[in-house]
Order: sequence, then C-alpha cells, then structure tokens
Amino acid sequence: MTTRTRIAAGNWKMNGTAADLAEVEAIAATGARTSEVVTLLCLPATLIDRARGYGVSLGGQTLHAATSGAHTGDISGQMLVDAGATYVIVGHSERRTDHGESDADICAQAEAAWAAGLTAVICIGETEAQYRAGETLDVLRGQIEGSVPQGATPGNTVIAYEPVWAIGTGLTPEVPEIQSVHAEVRAALGAHVHGGETLSVLYGGSVKAANAVGIFALDDVDGGLVGGASLKAADFVPVIEALA
Ligand code: G3P
Repeated sequence: MTTRTRIAAGNWKMNGTAADLAEVEAIAATGARTSEVVTLLCLPATLIDRARGYGVSLGGQTLHAATSGAHTGDISGQMLVDAGATYVIVGHSERRTDHGESDADICAQAEAAWAAGLTAVICIGETEAQYRAGETLDVLRGQIEGSVPQGATPGNTVIAYEPVWAIGTGLTPEVPEIQSVHAEVRAALGAHVHGGETLSVLYGGSVKAANAVGIFALDDVDGGLVGGASLKAADFVPVIEALA
C-alpha cells in the first residue's frame, strides 16, 4: 500500500477571473470531503489571494528564481506564499516552449520555490516528435537529471509527467504505457536523488472524468495535473473523486 501523497491538481493556466471563484468554492467543497487526497488549484496569480479561505490548497504556475528585483512581470516565491500559495508548478512545457525555460532554469526555480517554503511541482514530458522517435525515456531521464535539484524530498517536490502531445489534445498514451513510463520515471528519480523513488508522480495530459479512474488506479500514478477539466467543478469534481 502506497504512502505517497495523492494529489488532484488543477492548472488553470491563463484562465479565470473573480467570476470563477464560485468554481473554486465548489471544487474545494469536494476536496474537503476527500481528505485522503490533496486537492490543489494552481490559479492565475491574480486569483490566489482571492481564493484563500475555501479550504483548497493553492499554487502558482511559475516563479522567478530570484527573490526580488528588476524582473518586470515576474513573480517570486515569497509573493506566491504571501498570496496564500503552498505549491508552485515549475517547468510546464508551455513555459519551456513559450518562455524558453531550460532544465537549468527550472532547477533554479525549484530551489527558489523550496527557499520560499513552497512545494515545487516539476513538470517533465516528451514532444510528439520525441515520442514517435522512441526517445521518451531518454528525454525524461535528461529532464530529471537537469531540472530536479538534489535535495528533492516528498515534502518539497512533486513530479508531473505530461506528454506534450497529450496536453489539450484529447489524446493520452495507452493506460499500460502510462504505468510503464511512470515506473521508469520513478526509477530515474531514485537513481538521481536519494529517496527519489518515493516522490509523488502525477500524470497530466487530457485527464478527464472518463479516463481518470483507469489512470489513477495505476501503481505508479499518484494523481493528476489537469488543465481544461479543472476549470469547472462539474468536470473536476469527478476527477478528484476518481482519486479518492
Ligand atoms: O498542466 C496541465 C496540463 O498541461 C494538461 O492540460 O488540458 O490536457 O488537461 P489538459
């Protein structure tokens, strides 16, 4: 029986305004009923402070590696904590692509997250071309070595495996393939960091109510990082319940 933390995480990406706080409230109400699962919402920075008090864990979607200074438009770990966050996503493929973030950048951001007292949700995942070329495991091992800092523990780090080609496409790997990749990711974490095999490893990429039960039942899957299906309580609540 696993003792790894099970996490139903929503990544709202660049979606949501104050009008959507009712969805946060409804999602949090389900989270409160499923106390064995951490329900986490990684909201736009503008909503984090406003979502306090509903009882759901809150996270940012990125942070700067520096603590403060001349970095227009960026946000620090301390600011996220000040707003009420306890988690932060780092290294999402959309950040890697849109903002050119490298493994080294992500490693530094994860350490900055820890320094601020945040749990880092470090994302890894192969592109469609890498998947088709059979390079998935090599890519993931490289990303683990480059972007997961030494010192990662279950208390400060969660890993999210998100095949880039599965994000927002409605496509997912076959369920046995998800298990096999997660087992390899876990082994690579153990080889890279002392105790790394004990980290929670989430699956992300087109998770929804219809596929969540099958994916979350896998031995090496400890939950999900969910985009589109986390925006509305009607879609996300069944996903949380699938993990509970
Ligand atoms: O971080 C979550 C994400 O990239 C997956 O998005 O919309 O495919 O669930 P989605």
